[in-house]
Amino acid sequence: MAMLNIKNNNKLFHLIIYLIVALQTFGYDGSKFGVFHTNYTIKDIENFKVNNSYPCPNESSFNIADNFISREGEEFTTCDYQYLCNKKNEKCILFNSPSRLAEYSSQYENIVKGNAYNDLDEENKEIILVSCSKERFKRNKCSTDTCTKNEDCFSDNCVNGVCMTNKENPIYLCGPVKENSEIKVKCLLSFEEKCNENKDCADNANCTKDKLCVIEKEPESYPEKSSIFIVIFAILIILALIFVAFKFFQWKKHANN
Ligand SMILES: *[C@@H]1O[C@H](CO)[C@@H](O)[C@H](O)[C@H]1NC(C)=O
Ligand SMILES: *[C@@H]1O[C@H](CO)[C@@H](O)[C@H](O)[C@H]1NC(C)=O
Ligand SMILES: *[C@@H]1O[C@H](CO)[C@@H](O)[C@H](O)[C@H]1NC(C)=O
Ligand SMILES: *[C@@H]1O[C@H](CO)[C@@H](O)[C@H](O)[C@H]1NC(C)=O
Repeated sequence: MAMLNIKNNNKLFHLIIYLIVALQTFGYDGSKFGVFHTNYTIKDIENFKVNNSYPCPNESSFNIADNFISREGEEFTTCDYQYLCNKKNEKCILFNSPSRLAEYSSQYENIVKGNAYNDLDEENKEIILVSCSKERFKRNKCSTDTCTKNEDCFSDNCVNGVCMTNKENPIYLCGPVKENSEIKVKCLLSFEEKCNENKDCADNANCTKDKLCVIEKEPESYPEKSSIFIVIFAILIILALIFVAFKFFQWKKHANN
């Protein structure tokens, strides 16, 4: 019975939170949607005291707490601290938004889209936050808004109009995690970045077979090796037939003479 009550209270609590979010989102100041520059380093951010007060503290990335889920599947509620960092800049940027970057960037079939967001500290400047890995870009699994110069990309790597990841300068995406029943902020590898294992990746993304952080809405697919073999095999057979035909006509010509 006690358990049941806790469960019901939890539901009610979430309902109230959803209502507040719905009301707030209505009056949400859209002009504050985008990127702020900060003087925080990864170390500063990972040392933030996580809070779920209302409104959320000003170093958070939205004024209302949100629901999160741990890798183990446990739900928790906290203010969000959505920062992006890289080795080169040291100073992180704040992505001020009611939702996580993953929600704007990941689509069906695990396709990633790197969008440009307004730089709220510099007028008429936009910055593309998610970049593509070479591997997934080639397979049409990732694209970005058009960049014209390196500075347009947070990865600082614009190649033929597309923001590409930079192995020397990976992007880290910060956000709340729950570990050993403690909620804290952690900065982990962002989408499309090279990883070794799942827990290297932010937002519970998976480290896939080609060692890239991907939000797997469905199991990641790879080009079929077997179909490549079939094509090569078919070409070999056609070449062999041409060779045989050539030899045959050569022999026939010889015989006719
Ligand atoms: C970061 O520090 C510099 C130099 O101290 C200062 O001019 C700037 O306003 C600071 N930026 C922010 C966002 O606090
Ligand atoms: C949470 O933030 C509020 C206001 O921003 C502050 O009064 C409170 O002390 C904070 N709580 C914790 C646990 O840091
Ligand atoms: C956040 O709060 C601190 C301390 O209250 C204040 O000095 C700072 O200007 C605030 N930053 C922003 C971005 O509002
Ligand atoms: C990660 O992979 C597991 C198992 O393959 C899958 O159930 C889960 O949905 C994936 N999660 C994300 C966020 O990619």
